[in-house]
Amino acid sequence: MEYQVIPESRFEEVIHHLRFNFPDEPLNVSVGFCAHGQECELLEHHDLETLREGFSLMALDTETGVIAGVALSGVSKRGDAEKALEEMKSIDNLKYHRIFGLLNNVNKSLDLYSKYNVEEIFDIRILSVDTRYRGKGLAKELFHRSGLLAAEKGFKLLKTDATSLFTQKVAESDGYTVAKSVKYGDYKDENGKQIYKTQSPHDYYKVMIRLIDGHANSE
Ligand code: ACO
Repeated sequence: MEYQVIPESRFEEVIHHLRFNFPDEPLNVSVGFCAHGQECELLEHHDLETLREGFSLMALDTETGVIAGVALSGVSKRGDAEKALEEMKSIDNLKYHRIFGLLNNVNKSLDLYSKYNVEEIFDIRILSVDTRYRGKGLAKELFHRSGLLAAEKGFKLLKTDATSLFTQKVAESDGYTVAKSVKYGDYKDENGKQIYKTQSPHDYYKVMIRLIDGHANSE
């Protein structure tokens, strides 16, 4: 397996990989936003924007040339969650609102920028491993290498919105701590009906962070 920064020439292949593998993400499963093998324009728009930032990594099977996994990372800035929530108002898609409303509202409430006195955060936004390569530590390796890239580029704080228990394990094993934990089952609609019926063992969404070595917590 070889790990590389994803070049523009492979963006289309990455989107293809995500269409077939990322829909297993627990929040997506619970609201049925993107379907396996189908185009998912609203999410893919975000994926491509992140890819263009140039911080995303892929695990490449050198024997077959197949993209076995990816970690899409980008820079999040102060005010981004507020801006995203404003922009979402023009998007008429309840499933999209269910997912991105939750993520943006939780991030807005956390305000990690003030807490850690930073203007930018290296954000590992999408972690996805091809079903044929899962359970072999690829996600852990992609995650670890993303942190090394962030350190090399001078970032002070790493963050991930870990919506899956498996990602929470990956982040924990790489030294991340929980900045906020929310229980999916606690969210109800106006009729008292549970909004996110995530499948076990994915009961919590956790915002997980790590200060890069050499940068002390400024609290
Ligand atoms: N059952 C039980 N435990 C599992 C499973 C499974 N099916 N899959 C992974 N794990 C555990 C591993 O045991 C390991 O935990 P450990 O430290 O206790 O040993 C941990 O999760 C990580 O294992 P890896 O082998 O590194 O993970 P993998 O390469 O299989 O990829 C991933 C995990 C990315 C979550 C993959 O399952 C996937 O692509 N899922 C669909 C998309 C998704 O949910 N992405 C994450 C959403 S959050 C985000 O994107 C930031």
